[in-house]
Amino acid sequence: MAMRTLLITGVSGFLGWHVARLARPDWHVMGTYFTTKRHIAQSAFAAIDTGRIDLTEFRDMREMIALVKPHAVIHTAALTDANYCETHVADSFRINVEATRNLAGLCADRGIPFVFTSTDLVFDGTRAPYREDDPVTPISVYGEHKAQAEEEVLARYDLATVCRMPLMFGAPSPTHGSFLQWMLAKMERGDALPLFTDEFRTPVDAESAARGLLLAAYRGLREAADLELTPITGCYHLGGRERISRYEFGQLVQKTGNFAAARLDPVRLGDLDLPAARPPDVSLDSSKAYEVGYDPASIQDALNVLLGKERA
Ligand SMILES: NC(=O)c1ccc[n+]([C@@H]2O[C@H](COP(=O)([O-])OP(=O)(O)OC[C@H]3O[C@@H](n4cnc5c(N)ncnc54)[C@H](OP(=O)(O)O)[C@@H]3O)[C@@H](O)[C@H]2O)c1
Repeated sequence: MAMRTLLITGVSGFLGWHVARLARPDWHVMGTYFTTKRHIAQSAFAAIDTGRIDLTEFRDMREMIALVKPHAVIHTAALTDANYCETHVADSFRINVEATRNLAGLCADRGIPFVFTSTDLVFDGTRAPYREDDPVTPISVYGEHKAQAEEEVLARYDLATVCRMPLMFGAPSPTHGSFLQWMLAKMERGDALPLFTDEFRTPVDAESAARGLLLAAYRGLREAADLELTPITGCYHLGGRERISRYEFGQLVQKTGNFAAARLDPVRLGDLDLPAARPPDVSLDSSKAYEVGYDPASIQDALNVLLGKERA
């Protein structure tokens, strides 16, 4: 059978890159980037087809879909910096809401799986652990826009999948890293590392998260239906299995990587004045996803692999 084409928006991003790497044996992968320089994209992502596009330009997006003719789309492109979104509301709206809704519409027109990456920040963090049917209560522009996008996607396309992603960590893409890289750099230099003791998440490694997204995309295909596999549509939480504070996460990294010089500085949410409000505990209850085959690695197992690799 001819290989199916998977379109990954935001392949230059942290998560998109992980999805592309894991998808490649099974899919023909086409990935989009935006501000990444063409020569960097072409050398860094040489093994996949890439194209530059501003997804906020609807006509360009429509043309791209007509040209690529994807069998499935995983949408990871977004403005992801919550502090930036707080002060650039219109920019955030255009990519995080409008482009997402438009892409869902184009996928609906073709009847192909559309997997949208949302966030745990659609919750205010006062009633964790959160299940999919808990009401959204965003407290930042980023969270508000993601919540609005979720609603519009599902209203526009009932076969879409909204995956609420938790805090993710992993190896950096050629152009984007995760908070782990920031932690490692500080630990290696022996710089003070301020970490919240009262901010809790259910983090997951990016490879596990990417596998979850690919599972959702695959299960929407006709060949999965032919195998009588139930499609994964609607809203799913792709959280990790452990609830942990940023500070505890730092302690695990320090111990696993044996960073003798690390200087962890316990701080509380109230100690810092940041543009976007930070919910204290957006831990996700992801049992619905575990039931359909999402199986994230434990934080410790993921760190063992990552720190072994990164420090080799
Ligand atoms: N990372 C996390 O811990 C986390 C947690 C919860 C949810 N999420 C969600 O997971 C998804 C991926 O996050 P991430 O951390 O991997 O993001 P990221 O590293 O910040 O990457 C964002 C991607 O979006 C692309 N992009 C931005 N604006 C665009 C535009 N106007 N047109 C086309 N492409 C555009 C960027 O391309 P260029 O770089 O080439 O400009 C980049 O590839 C997002 O939906 C995010 O909300 C992430």
